[in-house]
Amino acid sequence: MNEWARPAFILEEAKLLANLEKIHRVEVEASVAIIPALKSFALWHAFPLLKPYVSAAAASSLNEVLLIREEMGLKAHTYAPVFHPSEFPDILVNSSHIIFNSLEQFNRYAEQMNSSGAVCSAGLRINPEYSEVEVELYNPCAPGSRLGVILADLPAILPTGLDGLHVHALCDSDSYAFERLLNSFEKRFQAYFDQIRWVNFGGGHMITKPDYDIEHLISVLKAFKSRYNLEIYLEPGGAFVFGAGTLRATVLDIVENQGIKTAMLDVSFKAHMPDTLEMPYRPDVVGASEEKESIHRYRFGGLSCLSGDYVGDYVFAEPLRIGDQVVFEDMMQYTMVQTTMFNGVQHPDVCIQRENGILEVMKTFDYHDFKSRLG
Ligand SMILES: Cc1ncc(COP(=O)(O)O)c(C=O)c1O
Repeated sequence: MNEWARPAFILEEAKLLANLEKIHRVEVEASVAIIPALKSFALWHAFPLLKPYVSAAAASSLNEVLLIREEMGLKAHTYAPVFHPSEFPDILVNSSHIIFNSLEQFNRYAEQMNSSGAVCSAGLRINPEYSEVEVELYNPCAPGSRLGVILADLPAILPTGLDGLHVHALCDSDSYAFERLLNSFEKRFQAYFDQIRWVNFGGGHMITKPDYDIEHLISVLKAFKSRYNLEIYLEPGGAFVFGAGTLRATVLDIVENQGIKTAMLDVSFKAHMPDTLEMPYRPDVVGASEEKESIHRYRFGGLSCLSGDYVGDYVFAEPLRIGDQVVFEDMMQYTMVQTTMFNGVQHPDVCIQRENGILEVMKTFDYHDFKSRLG
């Protein structure tokens, strides 16, 4: 690799396959369906790897529905906070399940669903008013949330045609947080369980994290299934690709101000890793630590001109040098699906590192990609 390697998102096939095996085991042992949410990861060149393991995928827009149809050959479970009338017919024919965010939305489209002849099951997202997610940006149960119907607004008898309930209130959560959510949901919404066929427990299940208690998840799901005759879906996104790839960057300059050294990179936190600024969190970097005492301490600076386009601190055993590679870990979830060309910054290449070690470049970006977004 030369000194000025291009910035690149690199999916590691072997790690993705290991995640898929873990998730599939839960599916089989708990007799549930676990489907990937495209909002987290939509690198369709990797879909042939996912395909043998998944029965469907979760979409949140017509574009995601179409990508699932075209590149996985599957119908989607589609939930969106609101559907646009001009898009609904295409969503309907390409979805096996459509989940509405409000009773008004369900009523608006129920007749279309009935008369279209499409085999598609309707569900309703409820707001469980229970969430342990502390960051408001990611908390669907924050006060005044627009996401899902609260219990007080549900009629005792669900409208004809509603087959399922959807509850999403986890974020990067373990099985114990799921159990607590499930208990609260069960206590409050139980009266509806004999009116529906399925429940979708949304995303946020970090099943593939090393410390995730998979046995516990399986036992919680099995126990719920033994109490109710319901089909169960989980639609995590991040878990499918957790730890399954990196973002490779290069140090282009090192600046210093008031004792703070910033290594300037050929990637941007704002444009390529926005969750690092929004959450915020400090992504792991290969070879770096958080040690307190060290002179080789750096911030990493993004290449946009946003003042806050940096993360830190990172400590290295040796000083960084211009030309050094910096590898950010766990950069497959919520990265490529959220990137922008803000400031016209260069978009990293999109690559797959095959199990045999070969690096395949799936996409590179140039001036045309920047220009063609707007005309
Ligand atoms: C409705 C819904 N389903 C699934 C997901 C996927 O969540 P995660 O990637 O955290 O598993 C999200 C994420 O926001 C969501 O809003």
